[in-house]
Amino acid sequence: MSVPVPVSVSVSVPVSMSVPVSMSVPVSVSVPVLMSVPVSVSVSVPVSVPLSVFPRSGTRAMIVVAGSALACAALECRSISRDERAMLAIDLRGKRALVAGVADDAGFGFAIAKALAEAGAEVAVATWPPALVIFRTMLDRGKFDESMTLSDGSKMKFAKIYPLDADYDTLADAPAELRESKRYRDCGDFSIAGVAAAVAADWGQLDIVVHSLANGPEVKNPLLETSRKGYLAAVSASAYSMVSAVQHFAPIMRPGGSFVSLTYMASERVVPGYGGGMPAAKAALESDTRTLAYEAGRKWGHRVNVISAGPLASRAASAIGFIGQMIDYNQRNSPLTSPLTAEEVGATAAFLCSPLASGITGTTMYVDKGFAAMGMAVDREGAKPL
Ligand SMILES: NC(=O)c1ccc[n+]([C@@H]2O[C@H](COP(=O)([O-])OP(=O)(O)OC[C@H]3O[C@@H](n4cnc5c(N)ncnc54)[C@H](O)[C@@H]3O)[C@@H](O)[C@H]2O)c1
Repeated sequence: MSVPVPVSVSVSVPVSMSVPVSMSVPVSVSVPVLMSVPVSVSVSVPVSVPLSVFPRSGTRAMIVVAGSALACAALECRSISRDERAMLAIDLRGKRALVAGVADDAGFGFAIAKALAEAGAEVAVATWPPALVIFRTMLDRGKFDESMTLSDGSKMKFAKIYPLDADYDTLADAPAELRESKRYRDCGDFSIAGVAAAVAADWGQLDIVVHSLANGPEVKNPLLETSRKGYLAAVSASAYSMVSAVQHFAPIMRPGGSFVSLTYMASERVVPGYGGGMPAAKAALESDTRTLAYEAGRKWGHRVNVISAGPLASRAASAIGFIGQMIDYNQRNSPLTSPLTAEEVGATAAFLCSPLASGITGTTMYVDKGFAAMGMAVDREGAKPL
């Protein structure tokens, strides 16, 4: 005789890992029924083991059928093989990111936006007003369609493109002449505070802010020929803008938020031709990263890191005039001789913004094929490179 018996079960297993598992467990029990005749029934009990519980392969687990100590059964659990199990992954699903400094698909900002999108984040970008119209036009005409294609075949979408001039903390700081100029007058509040307010209105909160912008009007000038105005402009646009970004965005970020900015090794060593106060701006950015990490960590639990990237022929770098030589020199003298790609920097930024990097803050992370580790050029005459 077969009697359907409602039972509840609990599973007790030794814990060894944190992997989700679900098992269908055939259980045989003897059940006293109304007729007081012991009968044998067979029930199939779907057992869900909580996320934090995963038995080792071969573990024997006790199934206890609740109610009247009816029966217990042993089962053999099969562990999910490495191939079947999800591997350690950068998972930014549910996170919202703003990447400032995107105006085409050639620079680090774009690659970072794409890496964040690949990891599942919702991504908005902020674009310098003088570059905004051309950027929107190119996007609308599908010029970036190929580079915006994600690995699953879908096309990356920017949740929004905010006009941003990182030289200004509030709209009132911008000269009236600039505010009324052709490229700025339809941009609304393009200041850092204005973009933060717009993001708060659109999203409420966000999780990630990437600062991928710099400007040094006299970057081609040697320091000995750099004006005070040019020097301070470089520091203002390229370094203070990050301080201001943390001031304005940190309060609207969910706890555990992450900031990442981009620096260049000329902050520490002389790169002739990279002038106009830009090395000082990058040195300030790196130093501020440490202080901001401390202050934003204690105040909000946010992290602040900076990536020191090797040379890349982005639009900004190409404007300096000798980016080809910089790339070539780095390749000849780095431990890794393949050219640095923007995607390598994008992947590092995505990692730094992810919970996998929850212990990393205040760090300057080199993504430069190891160039910064070298103490002597190996392409010199008489050297025997490996
Ligand atoms: N390309 C390199 O070789 C290299 C190496 C190391 C670090 N970096 C850094 O990477 C970051 C991104 O630069 P990139 O090389 O990818 O070039 P890029 O041209 O893609 O990005 C620079 C962006 O900054 C924007 N910008 C300039 N002034 C601005 C302002 N006042 N407000 C808002 N936006 C402004 C530009 O419109 C541009 O979109 C910069 O901080 C740069 O110094 C570049």
